Amino acid sequence: MPLQARRTPTIRHYVMTPPTFFAVEYAINPWMDPAVPVDTHRALDQWDTLRRIYKELGHTVELEEPVAGLPDMVYAANGGVLVNGRAVVARFAYSQRAAESDAYAEWMVRHGYTAVRTDHVNEGQGDLLVAGRVLLAGHGFRTDVRAHAEIAAAVGMPVVSLRLVDPRFYHLDTALAVLDDQTVAYHPPAFDTPSRDRLRTLFPDAIEVAAADAQVLALNAVSDGYHVVLPAAATGFAAQLRAAGFDPVGVELSELLKGGGSVKCCTLEVHP
Ligand code: ARG
Repeated sequence: MPLQARRTPTIRHYVMTPPTFFAVEYAINPWMDPAVPVDTHRALDQWDTLRRIYKELGHTVELEEPVAGLPDMVYAANGGVLVNGRAVVARFAYSQRAAESDAYAEWMVRHGYTAVRTDHVNEGQGDLLVAGRVLLAGHGFRTDVRAHAEIAAAVGMPVVSLRLVDPRFYHLDTALAVLDDQTVAYHPPAFDTPSRDRLRTLFPDAIEVAAADAQVLALNAVSDGYHVVLPAAATGFAAQLRAAGFDPVGVELSELLKGGGSVKCCTLEVHP
């Protein structure tokens, strides 16, 4: 195995919100169809399997209290971004999710952070992914590109703005996964040409994920630097990960996919 392919896991700190009140009652992304029934008990079981996988891998998982009437609150990644000892809380694009911000802000304050608000829409780690010393920042569907500078200032990190162009990949974390500080995986057609060029320059060792995998939200994955927890159906991406020296761990989250989310959406990482 080449030197750069020797992968090392590090212990992570995650926040998750149980899907107690999960439902698909409105459609704010192309995956959501309120006519398709959702099995909330099954969603809870699947979500709990994900939580147990993180625990078995040695990670810290803290829980946020779900709120009745906020069916998308299970997608904890959207709550904000926590890095460098700073915390920026989400400002949601759609009114249906607006009240989630206060819940995540309270979590931040309870844990000793100042919860910074932005003037422009930002959907937390749905669009803001830490990759080493930079923040990869999506825009085009949810997070307003004008929020990128606000967030760079708030967390004290440079931001790389990336434009999403396919409505099925409406958040950056549906089209790109950070595997370690210098390695990402992404689905090139989800980005405009300048963003693809930028990614190619920044991450020469990136894994390019094909449409068949991207369409099962393969890239909505969580890596600790070695283990990569990803949707079970993403078998092509799992093989690519294995070939690159990572250890893919598949998990079935079919109920949560009906809301347009998977592994990463359910996981807010607290970066040191
Ligand atoms: N139904 C949610 C929405 O459309 C799904 C959010 C998925 N979260 C994510 N981090 N991509 O807002």
